[in-house]
Amino acid sequence: MNAYLRTEELSKRFGATVALERFSIAIERGEILALLGPSGSGKTTTLRLLAGFETPDAGRIWLDGEDITGLPPARRRSGMVFQHYALFPHLDVGENVAFGLGGSGKEEGGSMAQRVRGALELVQLAGFERRKVQELSGGQQQRVALARALAPEPRVLLLDEPLSNLDPALRERTRRELRHVIKRVGITSVLVTHEQEEAFDLGDRVAVLRDGRLEQLGTADELYERPRTLFVATFVGRANVLRGGIARALGGKPGDVVVVRPERLRFAAQGLAGVVRERRYTGAAAFYSVEAHGDGAAAPVAQSTLRIEVQASPDAAAIGDTVHLQASGVLAFPDDRGTPAA
Ligand SMILES: Nc1ncnc2c1ncn2[C@@H]1O[C@H](COP(=O)(O)OP(=O)(O)OP(=O)(O)O)[C@@H](O)[C@H]1O
Ligand SMILES: [Mg+2]
Repeated sequence: MNAYLRTEELSKRFGATVALERFSIAIERGEILALLGPSGSGKTTTLRLLAGFETPDAGRIWLDGEDITGLPPARRRSGMVFQHYALFPHLDVGENVAFGLGGSGKEEGGSMAQRVRGALELVQLAGFERRKVQELSGGQQQRVALARALAPEPRVLLLDEPLSNLDPALRERTRRELRHVIKRVGITSVLVTHEQEEAFDLGDRVAVLRDGRLEQLGTADELYERPRTLFVATFVGRANVLRGGIARALGGKPGDVVVVRPERLRFAAQGLAGVVRERRYTGAAAFYSVEAHGDGAAAPVAQSTLRIEVQASPDAAAIGDTVHLQASGVLAFPDDRGTPAA
């Protein structure tokens, strides 16, 4: 087992709430693991357990071969970046980064300034030492927070929704930069997000959490192409969830819930019939909302009409067109809702 950071059956409750349940994961040295899950699924709890701000009710944490379960935060040597950067507004950039170094730089005399400069260089903010925090853009503030976390040369970097303060356009660019910095430093990292795109872009692997349980761990491709559960299939990527006659019309077996990605559907000469009700143009493609009618006799009434999202070329259909859909590649799951009585 050459994992650098490993948890073994980690559990944590708050009163009656199970925040994390038997969470086991192994992270390689230098790997970025993205923790993805809806609100309340236990992502922050996992980070806080790794950092030592929470004590697990059961389970163990290993770092570089050492059992750190009982170690206080300072002795774990992990760097944290929070959702709100929590920079000190009354300190300048250099002082904020130096704060991350605590007293550890002092005994080395002038080396403190050097370490601050080094950390700012890592995030491409060299020369910003004397700038005020308020004079920085959101993306630059995020980088200062990262520099502050990296300055003490932590063994692990823990990031909790580090980009959520940024507007969407900036967020996309910043997450590229963030990944580059982390990879350049080579630090083992765990990053929390509830956005699938962010997890895919930043993580070498992604762990999907649901109600405190690890639902699936894998690369972005694995999660998208081979989701193990209906939850992962619908949480990761766009998905049409189909039941009854409509599911069977696209190749599902009786009793299956079928998940079809919009890009796995195409307009064909025959297949599931429907009418195009909406069209959203995105440039390279268009998303069509097709109202389909299942086999009314076989399907429960509530599920006999459904909007299905299809991704196709911008000129593939127009609103009001009658179309036929065929699917290439459907994901089938047993229906956990059970079959409604006829
Ligand atoms: N200190 C606490 N006291 C009581 N309950 C808590 C505490 N911290 C977390 N919880 C509960 O544990 C569960 C997991 O919380 P956690 O903060 O880990 O979720 P999360 O995945 O980070 O969610 P979000 O995306 O909203 O940040 C939630 O039900 C939450 O209410
Ligand atoms: Mg959280």
